[in-house]
Amino acid sequence: MQCSWKAVILLALASIAIQYTAIRTLTSKPFQLCPVPSPQNCGLLGGPETESPIEGRAGCDEYPYFSFNASRKTHIMVLATTRSGSSFVGQLLNQHADIFYLFEPLYHVQTTLIPRLSHSRNAADRRVMLGASRDLLRSLYGCDLYFLESYIKPAPANHTTDKLFRRGASRALCSLPVCDAFGPTDANVEEGDCVKKCASLNMTLAADACREKRHVAIKVVRVPEIGDLRALVEDPRLNIKVIQLVRDPRGILSSRIETFRDTYRLWRIWRATGRRPYNLDLSQLTVVCEDFLGSVSTGLSHPHWLKGKYMLVRYEDLSRNPLLKTMEIYDFLGLPMDKSVEEWIQTNTRGSTELSAKHKYGTVRDSAANAESWRLKLSYDMVEYTQATCHKVLHQLGYKAVKSAEELKNMSLSLVQDKTFVPFS
Ligand SMILES: *[C@@H]1O[C@H](CO)[C@@H](O)[C@H](O)[C@H]1NC(C)=O
Ligand SMILES: *[C@@H]1O[C@H](CO)[C@@H](O)[C@H](O)[C@H]1NC(C)=O
Ligand SMILES: *[C@@H]1O[C@H](CO)[C@@H](O)[C@H](O)[C@H]1NC(C)=O
Ligand SMILES: *[C@@H]1O[C@H](CO)[C@@H](O)[C@H](O)[C@H]1NC(C)=O
Repeated sequence: MQCSWKAVILLALASIAIQYTAIRTLTSKPFQLCPVPSPQNCGLLGGPETESPIEGRAGCDEYPYFSFNASRKTHIMVLATTRSGSSFVGQLLNQHADIFYLFEPLYHVQTTLIPRLSHSRNAADRRVMLGASRDLLRSLYGCDLYFLESYIKPAPANHTTDKLFRRGASRALCSLPVCDAFGPTDANVEEGDCVKKCASLNMTLAADACREKRHVAIKVVRVPEIGDLRALVEDPRLNIKVIQLVRDPRGILSSRIETFRDTYRLWRIWRATGRRPYNLDLSQLTVVCEDFLGSVSTGLSHPHWLKGKYMLVRYEDLSRNPLLKTMEIYDFLGLPMDKSVEEWIQTNTRGSTELSAKHKYGTVRDSAANAESWRLKLSYDMVEYTQATCHKVLHQLGYKAVKSAEELKNMSLSLVQDKTFVPFS
């Protein structure tokens, strides 16, 4: 029997949809989605939000979707891609005493729904992932951390887990009352120490800690474009502010080659041999540029739905002038920047570069020197290819293309042009 590729894809999709539906069904009533006055707010394949409206509404009357004071909370999203400095920006928020921070919770959605297709660009996969992601983000901004449990493997028992992705990156999850391994004087707990010393994470306590904080910040690297978030941004129950972080795609490529050694193995071969492997997965680069272009074009065209809710930050500007940029970010958020944020910047943007190499998602130390160090690591061929592929977005973001290997390696000449992106207010 012939099994066409279309049938295979359909089968795969059906199984994802079934898993997702199962997850939705398993979640208890408080997570039911209430009808929202926004046509964009569509879920999965005509999914849960189009379920019986009567039942939906009853659920909503019984259980208010969010019990917090919406006019009070700011829902901060750091929208980025891997190796663009998002951990650094996440930390700038994490250090603030009034902010509850979560590091990439969508990791769990992806590993559950599309484990083998981590770089899938299949449009239907993408829709499933986005629908699920938006639902999860909505819940998390409301401090409904139980909703996340549906995606954690193995499934948490009695609302406790030691499998929350990068739990140690969140200050609130490493300190009292969520974790009692450290006292209030242990100001900066290292991520690894938190994971080692804190007992399993009690999700009930974590959710309480979230509610205690005035604001919630989430780092997201698994949403391609700002346009994909429109439904959330327009959701009247939320008060979203998006900080979109971009970086020179040539720098992203270089950093990924160093960091994700298996996935980017062929790129390393290209660099080492000077020959582009025939089976190189070019989408690893083109996707970054397409997503940036889509996002930035949307963001900078100032659509009404983003008014006051979108800020574009270049990683390079942040590296050169971390304190000033951070103040601008807090200005945009409308929050006072506290002392601990300033102190954290001071200890983490100077000095030893070795620490940044210590682990995969380390934040940037000695950040200014790092911003253009990719120029010494990529071959001119690779840079030329990247420039051809990404020329539009390079231009739009103010990154200068080089015309020769000499120019590339001449560090007295910066490739980052001065450019101001005023938040749209
Ligand atoms: C919500 O917060 C605002 C600002 O803090 C306050 O003025 C308002 O009274 C609060 N509303 C409720 C219902 O608590
Ligand atoms: C969950 O709690 C119940 C009741 O306290 C207990 O009997 C059970 O062993 C717990 N399960 C796990 C996996 O800890
Ligand atoms: C988690 O914390 C809650 C609230 O303090 C408590 O009632 C519950 O027993 C804790 N769960 C476990 C498994 O210890
Ligand atoms: C590097 O660029 C600077 C500024 O354009 C130029 O003056 C210098 O001669 C260049 N150095 C080399 C080695 O090409």
